Amino acid sequence: MHEDILEVLISEQEIQDKIAELGTQLTKEYEGSFPLVIGILKGSLPFMGDLMQKIDGHLEYDVMDVSSYGSELVTSGEVKIVKDLNTSIEGRDVIIVEDIIDSGNTLKYLTDLFKYRKANSVKIVTLLDKPDGRQVDIYPDTAGFVVPDKFVVGYGLDYIERYRNLPYIGVLKPEVYQK
Ligand code: PRP
Ligand code: MN
Ligand code: MG
Repeated sequence: MHEDILEVLISEQEIQDKIAELGTQLTKEYEGSFPLVIGILKGSLPFMGDLMQKIDGHLEYDVMDVSSYGSELVTSGEVKIVKDLNTSIEGRDVIIVEDIIDSGNTLKYLTDLFKYRKANSVKIVTLLDKPDGRQVDIYPDTAGFVVPDKFVVGYGLDYIERYRNLPYIGVLKPEVYQK
């Protein structure tokens, strides 16, 4: 375990088992259609990469980079598009893939944007849901795990860009961010 991690909340194996389960579910749900999977950078990168391979069917994927935290610990509430999609989503069945829904600001912004851009349907798939953090009324259609209101990192989730490479979800030691 990494020295800055207090405890492992979700192990690598638990994550991969859940992804296999979600892949099977999405394969069935989108059978016979051609969904557009949209990964939200940078946090969703590992999850999206692994999930893709477990969906057995035709799909297209694209990425969008948005940020509302910058280097801050608390959300600014203002979501910025750092890189937009290359794909038109009009009439498409969109699956948004996220690593975590916390305040809900990011996903609220994105679902509103995709509806405005006339997607046929928008589904939210998130690996983690932190309901205690919620500031706006938004719920994922599918969440892998519900996490407590703790500072979680790993598997795409960062603290000032670190720890994204950990293969598990862990709780960061308070002394790391209180320094
Ligand atoms: C994090 C995380 C989600 C979002 C969730 O991204 O990856 O995208 O915050 O928080 P919210 O529900 O409060 O909006 P961040 O903006 O830190 O960018 P990153 O993915 O590049 O780390
Ligand atoms: Mn993110
Ligand atoms: Mg971040």
